[in-house]
Amino acid sequence: MLNFAIQTARDAGRILDDRLGRALQVTNKGDIDLVTEADLASEKLIIDRIKSHYPRHAILAEESGATDGIEVGAGKTDWKWIVDPLDGTTNYAHGYPCFCVSIALERAGAIEIGVVYDPTRDEMFAAERGKGATLNERPMRVSTVDDLNGAMLCTGFPYNVRERPHFARDFANFTMKAQAVRRDGSAALDLAYIACGRFDGFWEDGLKAWDVAAGVLLIEEAGGRVTDFIGAPLDIYTPKVLASNGLVHNAMKRVLGRH
Ligand code: IPD
Ligand code: CA
Ligand code: CA
Repeated sequence: MLNFAIQTARDAGRILDDRLGRALQVTNKGDIDLVTEADLASEKLIIDRIKSHYPRHAILAEESGATDGIEVGAGKTDWKWIVDPLDGTTNYAHGYPCFCVSIALERAGAIEIGVVYDPTRDEMFAAERGKGATLNERPMRVSTVDDLNGAMLCTGFPYNVRERPHFARDFANFTMKAQAVRRDGSAALDLAYIACGRFDGFWEDGLKAWDVAAGVLLIEEAGGRVTDFIGAPLDIYTPKVLASNGLVHNAMKRVLGRH
C-alpha cells in the first residue's frame, strides 16, 4: 500500500506540475480560500485510483469531503485515505513553486502510511508506521538543534486569519526567540521539512486532517514529536498542531502558552 500511495502521489503531482503557471480557472471557497482546476484534477486522479484499487476503503478528501467505505463483516471498514490533492493552493495559483500532494492512510484511528510529494523538486517523503521515514528512498531524520536561538521554525495562517489577530502575536513572539521563522504556505510540506531536518519546529492553529495526516507520521517515524499546543497527544481532526524535532518542543510550548 505504501508503493500505491507513492505512485499515486507522484502521478497527481505530475498533473499539478504540468498545469503550473498556466491560466487556470480559480474559484473562491471563501474570502481568501481558493480552489483551482488543478486541485480538482489531482483529487479526481487520487480518488479514482483508490476506488479502483481499494473499493471498500473510506476516503476523506479536501474538495470532495467524506466518502464512506463499504461495510465489511459486522461493521464499517477500518481503512480511510486522507487526501489533500494540492496543499499550497494560494502559492500554486500565484505560480509560486511551494506546494505538494499529501496522502495518508488511517486504520482504526492510527495513521499507517503517509506520503508527501513535491513535484517541483521531485521530492518524495514517505513513511510507514514502525518502518521509518524516507526522502527519495533514503532514510531521513529530524534535526539535532536543541535551542530556539539556533532553530529555523515555520508556521502558517489559516484562511480566517483576519478574524484571529493572535496569530500575528505568536509569529512576533517566535520571531524574537528563534534564529528564523518562515511562512511557506504549505503545511504538509512544512511538516515534511521537519521530518528531514530542514525545519526544527512548526506550529499552526486552524489546520484540517488532510493538511497534517501524512506529515504527522513522517515526523514521528523520523524521530520527532507532534502534539497539540499544550503538549497533549495530537488528534488530527483538531486544528492546533505543534511539531518539532522533539528537542525544541517544550521551548515552543512555552512561547505558545504566553497568551
Ligand atoms: C493550506 C496550506 C497553508 C495553511 C492553511 C491550509 P491549502 O492548505 O496548508 O499552509 O496555512 O491553513 O489550509 O488550502 O493550500 O490546501
Ligand atoms: Ca491543505
Ligand atoms: Ca488543498
